[in-house]
Amino acid sequence: MLKMNYWTDKWDLDVAVCPCDSHFNDWVAKNKIKNKLIYHFGTGTHHVIGIKQATNKSNNAVLAITASKEEYDAYIQLSTEKAKVSKAYVAYFGDIYLTNPKILPDFDVVTMFHLCEFFFPNTASKSYGGMTDEKLLDMFTAKTKKNGHILFYMGSMAWAKALPIVQKWEKRAPVKRVGEFKTLLVFRKTK
Ligand SMILES: C[S@@+](CC[C@H](N)C(=O)[O-])C[C@H]1O[C@@H](n2cnc3c(N)ncnc32)[C@H](O)[C@@H]1O
Repeated sequence: MLKMNYWTDKWDLDVAVCPCDSHFNDWVAKNKIKNKLIYHFGTGTHHVIGIKQATNKSNNAVLAITASKEEYDAYIQLSTEKAKVSKAYVAYFGDIYLTNPKILPDFDVVTMFHLCEFFFPNTASKSYGGMTDEKLLDMFTAKTKKNGHILFYMGSMAWAKALPIVQKWEKRAPVKRVGEFKTLLVFRKTK
């Protein structure tokens, strides 16, 4: 059996270089998003989305994926030190391209910030069992509730690759473009 395509690096918070998570927290605040279930692609070691949403009295809950062992270790450290954060924020370790939809609930808000950034040549092969970026986006669209939101990061290092995928998806999927917020591009699910 093949090994997982985990990320052999980690990402510490650097808002000057990668502000998407911080902009997401701003978007949640600006739109008064409350009592919602959020799926987040790419925690970082800092876990700022999970921590913020667990502590801002929004009653939002976050499930977030990391493919980095160091980032997952940081979550274990965080949740052992701050029990109440772990009640509203769960990070898990895995390759998002191996997502099994049976395991996930439906979400009110989904971040697809790192679409196309970490696709390996073997990802969608039969032997690895993963999916393409297009399929990943379709799967998470299906997992988004009606009137829920799907957000992209226009500053992603892979945005030039992700944008045509998003443009094609926008035409076929039950989504409506809401507009830009800082570095983020926001869609609403219509059905
Ligand atoms: C550049 S870092 C950005 C982290 C954070 N969103 C930020 O902006 O500060 C990319 C993130 O994607 C995660 N990641 C990379 N490949 C992944 C994969 N195949 N499945 C799930 N997460 C992945 C990494 O663990 C990391 O958290």
